[in-house]
Amino acid sequence: CGIIARIGHGSAAETLLSGLENLEYRGYDSAGIAVQNGSGVKVHKTSGEVSDLKSSLDSDPHGNMGIGHTRWSTHGPPTDENAHPHTDTAGDVAVVHNGVIDNYDELRTELTARGHEFESDTDTEVIPHLIDECLATTDDTEQAVREAVDTLEGSYAIAAIVDGEERVYAARKGSPLVLGLDEEEWYLASDVPAFLDHTDEVIYLEDGDLVVLEPDSYRITDLDGTPIERSVDTVDWDPADAGKGEYDHYMLKEIETQPTALSNTIEGRIEDGDVAFEDLPPGSFDGIESVQFVACGTSYHAAMYGGQLMREAGVRADVLRASEYESTSGPVDETTLVVAVTQSGETADTLDAVRKAAARGARTLAVTNVVGSTAAREADDAVYIRAGPEVGVAATKTYSSQAVTLALLTQRIAGDVPDATPVADRSAMLQALENLPQHVEAVLETVRAETLAREMFDSNSYFFIGHGLGHSVALEGALKFKEITYEHAEGFAAGELKHGPLALVTEETPVFAIATGGDDDDKTKTNAIEAQSRGAPIVAVGPDEQPLVDIADAHLSVPETHPVWAGLLANVQLQLLSYYAAKQLDRPIDKPRNLAKSVTVE
Ligand code: G6P
Repeated sequence: CGIIARIGHGSAAETLLSGLENLEYRGYDSAGIAVQNGSGVKVHKTSGEVSDLKSSLDSDPHGNMGIGHTRWSTHGPPTDENAHPHTDTAGDVAVVHNGVIDNYDELRTELTARGHEFESDTDTEVIPHLIDECLATTDDTEQAVREAVDTLEGSYAIAAIVDGEERVYAARKGSPLVLGLDEEEWYLASDVPAFLDHTDEVIYLEDGDLVVLEPDSYRITDLDGTPIERSVDTVDWDPADAGKGEYDHYMLKEIETQPTALSNTIEGRIEDGDVAFEDLPPGSFDGIESVQFVACGTSYHAAMYGGQLMREAGVRADVLRASEYESTSGPVDETTLVVAVTQSGETADTLDAVRKAAARGARTLAVTNVVGSTAAREADDAVYIRAGPEVGVAATKTYSSQAVTLALLTQRIAGDVPDATPVADRSAMLQALENLPQHVEAVLETVRAETLAREMFDSNSYFFIGHGLGHSVALEGALKFKEITYEHAEGFAAGELKHGPLALVTEETPVFAIATGGDDDDKTKTNAIEAQSRGAPIVAVGPDEQPLVDIADAHLSVPETHPVWAGLLANVQLQLLSYYAAKQLDRPIDKPRNLAKSVTVE
């Protein structure tokens, strides 16, 4: 879910609505705003997207301050009643919330017994009722909010307004919240793109912070009421990066701006033929003997890339699904480096894995796109992938930037681990990396993925196979395809196809076989032929000079490069394939059903 609040002069509604549009990547089941004006707190909310909310408003809801929410359902289906903001029985207190209140059931039973009436199935609704109840014993609303928040167990970023007061109250614990400071307006939001059009001056709030915004001032305290000073940061994202520009979809924009994103990722990180990370000089990883990568979704696939390169550099490395960390992590101690790979830096499963590892003594490192994110702040160190804001729910440019950052990082880490054996042709690999942005540019100029998407769009299932680094790309290709086309797609380690999935292969299941120009391609060719013999059309995805081209029915070509980077170019072809297939099927590409970009609940 995404939350926003704004206080200042002039009407708040327009800013709230445009801010919510920029937060829709966090969820788009339902949306709502509440504004405060001379006639009290006015709530407008609906199931559906922010555009539905906008068209449901007959006129501008006047009021210089307000709160807003866009939802990804956890408790209760996406109905009008379950949309935020939620209010107390009298409608005097309105609240928006991101997170999960673990003790809401118990609180709701107690509040109901004391006469409070509930209208939704949400956990959030207890919050305005609690504030209302605390207001019965004090005139000090700040104190009432503090007491209410103190009763909550679980995670929250909340913003509240109260009838008759020119103030926004907010608090965070476990869910992101950032304060934006403009000359005459203050904002609060789950993430910076919500207000980046207005200001780049921000304060990243911490767990336990309580904020009160007034038209001309703001103050931050802890839950005991003690004032807290937080530093003001300047965000270096360009507001244009957060908009759709001339593109039909954010996803296409994000695919096509990968050359720039990758140049930024690489900049300054190769010096005199070696890898350099400003804040992690040689010796930074002394004492580390093994590495665990933890991640979810697309980030997990990028982590697989990093994991393989780490092992090739002679360092013991595992790649673990964050949501399964407890059962898969094995022994962890201060010689273990746990690398959290997370675009948003806010994924609850990933944060939970990092916290568990830290509690067992591991050293932690966040590889993220978002400065000030929880992962960046909680980990011992943070490395930024510098891809710029990504809005499309299906991750594209951030996968490429993550994989490159991890590839470089593995070389840096290996330099500090005794007995590691740095990759033999490292300088050729680094030289080829400097050409990666141009190579991606060349892939973007090809049109074969678009025509192929048209030719194959009515198949039964789509399989993606690869060995080694190609395996990570196959999994990512399949994930992207299913996320935005809703067609059945699966990725496999190429050699596994014959151990079961081959039973599903017919002439209606195209198989995309990833080639990297490396030693694994012959094996992938053998596996592709096994599928081809059962009727499957084979699409080779990779450079021209590799064995799959000889047997393939179609070819998505990428420029010749070092085998370490060829998979990333193949992935760009697969991103284009998914995009054009989804377009052909008229899917809501930037907002696939049931998904959210940043999942801040477990
Ligand atoms: C969600 C998104 C995925 C993303 C995953 C991990 O499931 O839909 O696209 O890969 O979260 O997100 P993170 O921000 O941790 O990379």
